[in-house]
This record gives sequence, structure tokens and C-alpha cells, in this order.
Amino acid sequence: MHLTELRIQNLRNIEAEQLDLAPGLNLFLGANGAGKTSILEAAYLLSHGGSFRTHQSEHLQRRGVEPLALFAQVRTDSLTRRLGLLRQDGRWTAKLDGDGSAKLTDLFAACAVVCFEPGSHALISGSADGRRGFLDWGVFHVEQDFAARMRRYRRALRQRNALLKQAAGDEELSIWDEELSQAAEPLAAAREAYMVRFECELIPLLDGYLPELGGASLRFRPGWNRAAPLHEALKEARPRDRMLGHTTRGLHRADWNLTFARAPSHEQLSRGQEKLCAIACMLAQVLLYRAVRGENPVIAFDDLCSELDAAHQAAALEELIESGAQILLTGTEIPPALLERFPPRRMFHVEQGRVREVV
Ligand SMILES: Nc1ncnc2c1ncn2[C@@H]1O[C@H](COP(=O)(O)OP(=O)(O)OP(=O)(O)O)[C@@H](O)[C@H]1O
Ligand SMILES: [Mg+2]
Repeated sequence: MHLTELRIQNLRNIEAEQLDLAPGLNLFLGANGAGKTSILEAAYLLSHGGSFRTHQSEHLQRRGVEPLALFAQVRTDSLTRRLGLLRQDGRWTAKLDGDGSAKLTDLFAACAVVCFEPGSHALISGSADGRRGFLDWGVFHVEQDFAARMRRYRRALRQRNALLKQAAGDEELSIWDEELSQAAEPLAAAREAYMVRFECELIPLLDGYLPELGGASLRFRPGWNRAAPLHEALKEARPRDRMLGHTTRGLHRADWNLTFARAPSHEQLSRGQEKLCAIACMLAQVLLYRAVRGENPVIAFDDLCSELDAAHQAAALEELIESGAQILLTGTEIPPALLERFPPRRMFHVEQGRVREVV
């Protein structure tokens, strides 16, 4: 899929801009603070409903101005869809092909944007939240019922946590243990299946990017010992959960990590190596999305040149371009040798929140 048009209103320093985008490489150049990352953020928001650089959506809104509005036209092999996302009075609403009652998850299902940005090393060395979010984004696009099932799980989890805090009796807790367990089992199986396929795509990429670290492997921890159903683990953990006032087993405790023969812990990776791992993860997700859906997601790549050496910049860009995906790439400057080797289909100059195409 690719975006043919992206309109941005009142996002950070962008007041109102309309971009006509091409398939393949779209390049955004401009000085620090010009608004380049904000353009990628706009595309990412349409696919995720949240930003990659803040959890607090109020920071996205251009200071003091409402509403924040995003609009995109997305073309797939078979159809063109019109996507709208609006934030007003602290609430997000979605519009899909003119239907203002569309659910946010319908919008996200219609638009797949993966992103690599200077903070992406956190996928390797940051908290488990980011890794679960990354995994679940992938599973969401593979498993139709994922979002609804996850809502059911979260509701049950909130309920159980509230009961733990109220020191509720065993009988009442057992009901919610069962509900959590039923909601969790298919989701855990979907995550596991995704991880198996993800690993097959990822390991060859890692071996290519980081041969100096020896063989790579991926380890997935589902959040409880899957040899038994979740309700058994919850029953066993109940005394501890009561003490802590929250649920210590379940999907919300899942995590995954990468290890290398010569770097068993992520603490032994340099920042650049963490970034290369994160790029490999993003690419593996692109390949897997394509294998399942038969088309590429859009790739947003922020600040190519930060902390990657010239050889790795070229290798990453080559791999991205070979994927055939639409790429939205930003930089304060791009080395002329790279531009010559990978000529962009469209090039834009960004300055103080204004975007103009360079011909
Ligand atoms: N809520 C907001 N309202 C208005 N302006 C904002 C808001 N949030 C951020 N800005 C400003 O918007 C601009 C957007 O920055 P952005 O991160 O998109 O720039 P950039 O071109 O990616 O810069 P860099 O090269 O430094 O990464 C910055 O000048 C920032 O100060
Ligand atoms: Mg930036």
C-alpha cells in the first residue's frame, strides 16, 4: 500500500499542509526543528492512533489550536481508501471513506505504517511495553479478531486488579481468573505464532547486519508458563497478587528479546548495534506483513544519518528500497553519494512547518 496524499492540520508546528506522495522513496529535508519528524508522525498516527515520541497526545496539537486533523488517501492493489483522524476536546475520532462513525481500529486496519526513528533503539534496550506494542501491532494486522479480544482481556484485567485492591474473596476472583484465561489463550497463541514467523524473517537480517556478534536468537516469554492454562497460574499467584494489588501473570507481562552468541545481553550492544537490531526488527515486520497481506506497509524512516555509519546507512536504505515499499525518509541532509545511488521519486523541503516539493 502507499499514501498518495497526506493532509496535516495543526500538528505540532504544521498549520495546514497537503502533500502529494509517490510510491517508492519520498525524501524530506530541512533544518533541525523544521517539522520533518512531524510529517512522519502524521502518517504513523493514522496507523497507530498514538505517536512514537510521546504518550501524551496533547503535545501533538499545535499549541492552543484545535482540532488536529489528518487526512490520507491510501492506495492498495485493489482499492483506494480515504482516512481521516481528528482530535478535538481530548478525543480521537476516525472517518473511513466518508463514514464518520468508523471505529479507530477500522482506520488502523486500513493503514499500515512501520517506523524507524532515533528513539527506536528502545525496542531493544527500553521497557517491555514498547516490545509488546511492536508485537501486537504485527499480530493485529494478521489476526482479524485481535483488537476485540484484547479489549476483552484488558477489561477483565482491570476488573481483577480492582478486586485484588478491594481484598475480594476467592470465589469472586475465580470468576475473573477464568474470564482472563479465556480471553488470553487465543491471543497468546496468536502472539506465539507471529513470533515464530517473525523469527524466521529476522534472524537472517541480523546475521547480515551484525555478523561480528555471532549467531542471533529471539526469545519470547508469553507472560506465564503456558504448559498450563492462565487461570491455574493466576490461582497460584493469587497470594502474591493480593499483596501487590495487581496481576503478575498474563498477556500484559509478555516480553521478547534478542541475544547474540557474543553479546548475550543487550547491555553488551553499542547504541549503533541496538539501532541496527531495531532496523532489522522493522524490516522483518515489513516482510512478514507482506507475506501475510500480499502488499507492503508504508515505511517511515526518520533521520537516516543519525548514529549509523555510511556503510550501514547505505545497507539499510538499499534493503528498504529493495522491499518495494513506499518510504518516507527524513534527514537534515543526505550524503550526495546516497542520493545518486537511490534517487528519490519525490523530494520535499521542510521549513518552519511549511512543506514544498523540490523539483
Ligand atoms: N505542540 C506544538 N505546538 C507548536 N509547535 C510545536 C509543538 N510541538 C513541537 N513543536 C515545534 O514543532 C517543530 C517540529 O519539530 P520536528 O521534530 O518535526 O522537527 P524536525 O524537522 O524533525 O527536527 P530535527 O531535525 O531536529 O529532528 C519544532 O520546532 C518544535 O519546537
Ligand atoms: Mg526530527
